[in-house]
Amino acid sequence: MKIDILTLFPSMFDGFLHESIIKRAIESKKVEINVHDIREFSLDKHKKVDDYGFGGGQGMVLMPQPIFDAVEHYKTENSKVILVTPQGNVYNQREAYFLAHESHLIIVCGHYEGFDERIRTLADMEISIGDYVLTGGELPSMVITDSVVRLLDGVITEKSHIADSFHNNLLDYPVYTKPVDFRGMKVPDVLLSGHHANIEKWRYEEQIKRTKIRRPDLLERNE
Ligand code: ADE
Repeated sequence: MKIDILTLFPSMFDGFLHESIIKRAIESKKVEINVHDIREFSLDKHKKVDDYGFGGGQGMVLMPQPIFDAVEHYKTENSKVILVTPQGNVYNQREAYFLAHESHLIIVCGHYEGFDERIRTLADMEISIGDYVLTGGELPSMVITDSVVRLLDGVITEKSHIADSFHNNLLDYPVYTKPVDFRGMKVPDVLLSGHHANIEKWRYEEQIKRTKIRRPDLLERNE
């Protein structure tokens, strides 16, 4: 898979691309991730990318030209163009699975007060990562990239996704490591029993119990 991220703040991605699982996925060529500065596509002599909104009141608005030129430069017939904005469909694990089957994502990060409405015509989809407003699309684009890359073949073990919170719309079961007794808090006996069928059953029951208490809306979706 290839992911091209278009942003006004490329250096925000430095840590993200150079640590942990994402770093390893890039090194082992499971994914190619390129971060591009939208400003490089500005035709203005001062590399201007935004201007006041018509009608007043809005603050600075991203202009269409640099973003159209950037998207058109990287787009091929297999690309999915994603605009990250609080006005998009709210992102979830199901969407991550769909995106993980694409071969090329172009993620456009908005900034400032917003972007010229005509930029929407470039997008195959608009994604919001939740009902709150961030200062820009950089963090949302990292959230989407991270959730997709970990699902690509060979990035983490298949078993890890199956145990994920939200696989089957259930939250994760509790996990424990050493010591068996920490300040009087003990690891449940069943996990020490070596009885795999009982462990599976306990884990599933814990998932249901936890989801019922914390996220009953997820169980309703299953029904
Ligand atoms: N840009 C600003 N806030 C956002 C959000 N919640 N999701 C996606 N993009 C955004």
